[in-house]
Amino acid sequence: MNYKSLKAAIIYASSTGNTLDLAGILQSCFRDFGVEPDLYNAREFRAEGLADLDFAVVATYTWGSGEIPKEMKQVYEAFEQHEVKHLITGAAGTGDRFYPYFCGAVDEFRDMLFVHTNLAATLKIELTPQDKDHERCRQFVKALLARMAI
Ligand SMILES: Cc1cc2nc3c(=O)[nH]c(=O)nc-3n(C[C@H](O)[C@H](O)[C@H](O)COP(=O)(O)O)c2cc1C
Repeated sequence: MNYKSLKAAIIYASSTGNTLDLAGILQSCFRDFGVEPDLYNAREFRAEGLADLDFAVVATYTWGSGEIPKEMKQVYEAFEQHEVKHLITGAAGTGDRFYPYFCGAVDEFRDMLFVHTNLAATLKIELTPQDKDHERCRQFVKALLARMAI
């Protein structure tokens, strides 16, 4: 399948850089398949245009005790409030197993995206992405693209 004309966005929140690294790796995995995704910091994200996308990936760290960081809340609500049932999505993020609820924010997004969009995959990375995580990132992106081919 030719993916070149498809529109994708990666919306991320990152306080210390781990999730930004993850978002960059996911962007490069999309590029390997010929898709050029736009990268949005959650603080810059505007909900207009969400419905025009083919793919959207949310990449988030986890805060508090398993919670979505506050800058991600408007992103969460945008998916809930717009008509995006057609949108193929993925929920990704970084977290720390030191905390009782590892990557809780990814689970929160997963549950919401499952209801409101065409959720294709989830991905949880421990802190900074390592070399071994690159293949997991590639498989995550591949799962999203495969959903389009169905
Ligand atoms: C106050 C605080 C609370 C956190 N709570 C959780 C948590 O509940 N679950 C989790 O998996 N990680 C938790 N983390 C870890 C971060 O999500 C993790 O370090 C993440 O990789 C940070 O991403 P970033 O570098 O993109 O900001 C917490 C970190 C801090 C500082």
